[in-house]
Amino acid sequence: MKNKVSIIGAGFTGSTTAHWLAEREIADLVVVDIIEGMPQGKMLDLQQAMPIIGKDVKIVGSNGYEATAGSDIVVITAGLPRKPGMSRDDLLTANAAIISKATEETIKYSPEAIFVILTNPLDVMAYLTLKVAKLPPHRVIGQAGILDSARMRAFVAMELGVSVENIHCYVLGGHGDEMVPLTRHSNVAGVPLRECMPPDRLEAIVNRTRKGGGEIVNLLKTGSAYYAPSAAVAQMVEAILKDKHLTVPASAYLQGEYGLKDMFFGVPVQLGRKGIEKIVEYKLDDSEKEALKKSADSVWQTTEALLNLVKI
Ligand code: APR
Repeated sequence: MKNKVSIIGAGFTGSTTAHWLAEREIADLVVVDIIEGMPQGKMLDLQQAMPIIGKDVKIVGSNGYEATAGSDIVVITAGLPRKPGMSRDDLLTANAAIISKATEETIKYSPEAIFVILTNPLDVMAYLTLKVAKLPPHRVIGQAGILDSARMRAFVAMELGVSVENIHCYVLGGHGDEMVPLTRHSNVAGVPLRECMPPDRLEAIVNRTRKGGGEIVNLLKTGSAYYAPSAAVAQMVEAILKDKHLTVPASAYLQGEYGLKDMFFGVPVQLGRKGIEKIVEYKLDDSEKEALKKSADSVWQTTEALLNLVKI
C-alpha cells in the first residue's frame, strides 16, 4: 500500500514541504488550509509538475479534513505569524487554537498517524499536540534541530569552502535564541570543528546560527524562512516512512533524559517507522549542560504560559 502524508497549512512551509516530498516520490499527499480554493489550486499546480519530473504521486488540496483519512504522517504547519501590536501571548493563544483544532481533526481521521510539528513556538506547539491527541510520546516530533544544524553546516561550508556533505553539526535545545550549537561534537570529515578555524570565526558562526531565523525574517520583512524548514520536515518524513533508524536533532518529549521532564526539547532522536525509536543522550561537559539548562528554562517559561492560557 502506498504511504499517505497530510500537511495542515498550505502556506509557504506547507506547500514547500509538499514540493520536497513529491520530488522524493515516497507518499501520496493531502494538503489542507482554511483559505478557500488555495490548497486546491496550489496542489493542482504541483500535480501538473509530476509528468515533467516523472514522479507518480497523487496530490490533493482541500479545505476539509476528511481527505486526510488514513494518513501515516500528519505534518502541522498551520499558524499565524506575529503581527504588529500582537504580544507573544496573543500569538501563543492564536496558534494554540489552530494547532488544537488541526490535531483534533486529523487524529479523528488518522488515529495511527505520527505527528510532525513545524508551527512556532515549536517546542510548545508539539507539547500541545501530544496533550490534545493523548498520543504516546514517540508519535509526536517537533522539527527544529535539523534546520538549526543545517544553518550551522551551511555557514561552516561557506567559511571553509568544503562540501556540505563533509560537515556534521549538532544543535540542541529549544528552537529559540538560547539554542545550543555543540561545537565539541561538530566536525568536518572527522576533524573537530574547533580545529578547523580560529575561535573568533567559530563564535561568529555559532551566533549567526542562533539568530538564523531572525536574519531571514529581517530580509524578507513579510514572512519567515520556508525552504530549509520544509526540507528538514521532508528528511524526517522520509526517515520515518523508510524506517531508516536515522539519528537527527529534533524536538522530543522528555521524561528524565538530559535531566528534563514533561517538556519538548531539541535532542538527538533516532527516527524509524514507529516515530521516535530512541533518544540519544550525549555526554556533555559542564558548560554544555549549563547552556542547555538556560535553553530549557526559556522553553519551560513558554510552556507555562501556554498552560496558563489553555486548558489541556
Ligand atoms: N487550519 C488550516 N490552515 C490554517 C489555519 C487553520 N485553522 N489557520 C491558518 N492556516 C493557514 C493559513 O491560511 C496559511 O496558509 O496556515 C498557513 C500558514 O502559512 P504562512 O502564513 O505562509 O506561514 P508559513 O511560512 O508556512 O509558517 C507557518 O511554520 O515555520 C513555522 O514560524 C512558522 O509558525 C509558522 C508556521
